[in-house]
This record gives sequence, structure tokens and C-alpha cells, in this order.
Amino acid sequence: MGWTLKDIPNQTGRVALVTGANSGLGLETSRALLQKGATVLMACRSKRKSEAARRELLDLGTTGIDLLDLDLSDLNSVERCAGVILERYKGLDLLINNAGLMAPPRRLSSQGFEMQFAVNHLGHMALTQRLLPLMEGRHDARVVTVTSGAQYFGQMNWLDLQGEKRYDRWSAYSQSKLANVMFAIELNEKLHNQQSTVISLAAHPGLARTNLQPVSVAASGAWQESLAYRLMDPLFQSAAMGALPQLHAATAGSAKGGEHFGPGGLASMRGTPKRQPVARAARDAQQRERLWAISEEMIQTSMAKI
Ligand SMILES: NC(=O)c1ccc[n+]([C@@H]2O[C@H](COP(=O)([O-])OP(=O)(O)OC[C@H]3O[C@@H](n4cnc5c(N)ncnc54)[C@H](OP(=O)(O)O)[C@@H]3O)[C@@H](O)[C@H]2O)c1
Repeated sequence: MGWTLKDIPNQTGRVALVTGANSGLGLETSRALLQKGATVLMACRSKRKSEAARRELLDLGTTGIDLLDLDLSDLNSVERCAGVILERYKGLDLLINNAGLMAPPRRLSSQGFEMQFAVNHLGHMALTQRLLPLMEGRHDARVVTVTSGAQYFGQMNWLDLQGEKRYDRWSAYSQSKLANVMFAIELNEKLHNQQSTVISLAAHPGLARTNLQPVSVAASGAWQESLAYRLMDPLFQSAAMGALPQLHAATAGSAKGGEHFGPGGLASMRGTPKRQPVARAARDAQQRERLWAISEEMIQTSMAKI
């Protein structure tokens, strides 16, 4: 019998921030943490959707929800959101970098970065860096970054990270999800070297039935992909099952900094959480440091202009 929701330790007194908390894995993660007693800051870009999610969770009798505005495609919004949290809370125990989008046609973020790189990776990195001081010194504080099985197909296109010369929406998605896991591992190394009390882990959900696929199809208009998802439907697990690896990374007493979890069943697509190897590039310290330095410069240069 694998690790399930009932194995989540009591979270009373802990404060968790979940990005993209109104839908799919973020909603399931928020639900599970609330039901175990945590205060959950649900950071979402749409007030209408976050209010609807709050109503759904309140109907279950949960308390401890705080809604925050966060659009990860705009570093200005990331800065504002972090500012509100720093003002409102004395400490943060869990940061779950969950929000994401998959394979849209090429679009740019407010600061001019390719949208998937900006939302999935850069925005989360900027948010994490701003919130780490609030996590430092807290007992068992963890940053969990949600990646994907797509990390294994991903490559950092160092000469064209923003897809300016050539954009392939699936390669850009895989690159952003590889960046997620590289960031998670590098952050853990840095925290460890600074003797921080905070640890960083990564998780992926396998294949989970959420809004990710329909939103992707709607943005790209690729009807073949819609058909493929319908044919693959029996392989997909529920959003609640898909959220287990990130919940495991966030709460299991046995999970350690630098570890990565995904579903332990059929080809890592479904099942209860199990520790899994990360993509080769994420094991390469040079590549991780290179991504860190480039990303940091992108964030700092953009923030200086804001
Ligand atoms: N589902 C899967 O099979 C699967 C597989 C591998 C990895 N993942 C990863 O799992 C994570 C969660 O995705 P999901 O499957 O739960 O999909 P989902 O149901 O579509 O949820 C994605 C969440 O991210 C939010 N989001 C998108 N762009 C944003 C932005 N600019 N700023 C703030 N929030 C934004 C969405 O907000 P809106 O509702 O407003 O759009 C939504 O709340 C993603 O990182 C994804 O890459 C999922």
C-alpha cells in the first residue's frame, strides 16, 4: 500500500502558499493541506476563479484560506504578491511552485520573455527568492517545485532560450519543466551550503486529468492533440492522485532536500508517490549553475526597470 492522503501529518499551525491553487493539482494540494489544518495562501491570477475555488473548499467545512493575486507572467505582480505576504505573515512553512501552462503558441510575458519559461520557471524563481527570508529558521520549511515527465525530453537551448530564432511549443514546454527541476536541485544545493533550515524538492504528477490539456488544446487549436488525449484518457489518473507526489514532497517525514517524486506505477504515469531520478541535465552542476545565473540576471534586469 503506497503513500496516500491519510499519511499527511497534521499541518495545524503551518502556513503554505500554493501557486495556481484554483485548478487541478493546485486545488487538490490546497484541499489536502487545509483538511490537515494548514493555513493555505491560494495564489491565483483570476479573482473569479479563486473565489469559486474558495467557495468549493469552504463547502467542505475547511477554514484557513487566504486568497492572493498572482500573475506569474508579470514580475511586477510577483513582487506585489510577495510584498503582501511579507507584510501579512510572520513566517511561511511551505511554498508549492505549482502553477503552469503547457505548449501554447509563442507569446511573451510582460517583461518580454517566452511565456512558458516566464510563468513555469522565472516567475516561480523570483517568488521563491523573495519569500525565502520568511521561511528561514522555520521548522521543516520546504520549497516544492512541480515539474513534469517532460523534463526527460527537455533540453536547455542555451543559444535560443526564448525561442526567438525557432519556437517549438512542445520543446519550450519541456525546457521549462527541465528548468523547474534544475532550479529545485540547485536551490537545495545553495540552501545546504548556506546551512539554511529550508530544503527544496521537486515532484511531478505523471498524467493527471486537469485543465492543463484542454487549455493547451484551446490555445493551440491542435485538434489532433485533443483526439490523442481522448484516446489516452484511460491512462490519466485523477487530479487528486496527481497531486500526491507534490504533497509527499511537501509533507512526508521521510522526504529529503534535493529529492524528486513522481507516481510509482505504470511508466511513472500513475500510482502513489515514489522517489525518482531527475533528468540528466538536472544532475549536471554546471548546467544548473548556468541556468541559475542567466535566470537571476533576467529577473534582476527586469526588476530594475519596473
Ligand atoms: N496534469 C498533468 O498531467 C501534468 C503533467 C505534468 C506536469 N504538470 C504540471 O502540474 C502543474 C499544475 O498543472 P495542472 O495540471 O493542475 O493544470 P491546471 O488545472 O491547468 O492548473 C494550472 C494552474 O496554473 C495557473 N496559471 C497558469 N498561468 C498562470 C499565470 N500566468 N500566473 C499564475 N497562475 C497561472 C492556472 O490559472 P488559470 O486557472 O487562471 O488558468 C491554474 O490555476 C503545472 O506546473 C504543470 O506543468 C501537470
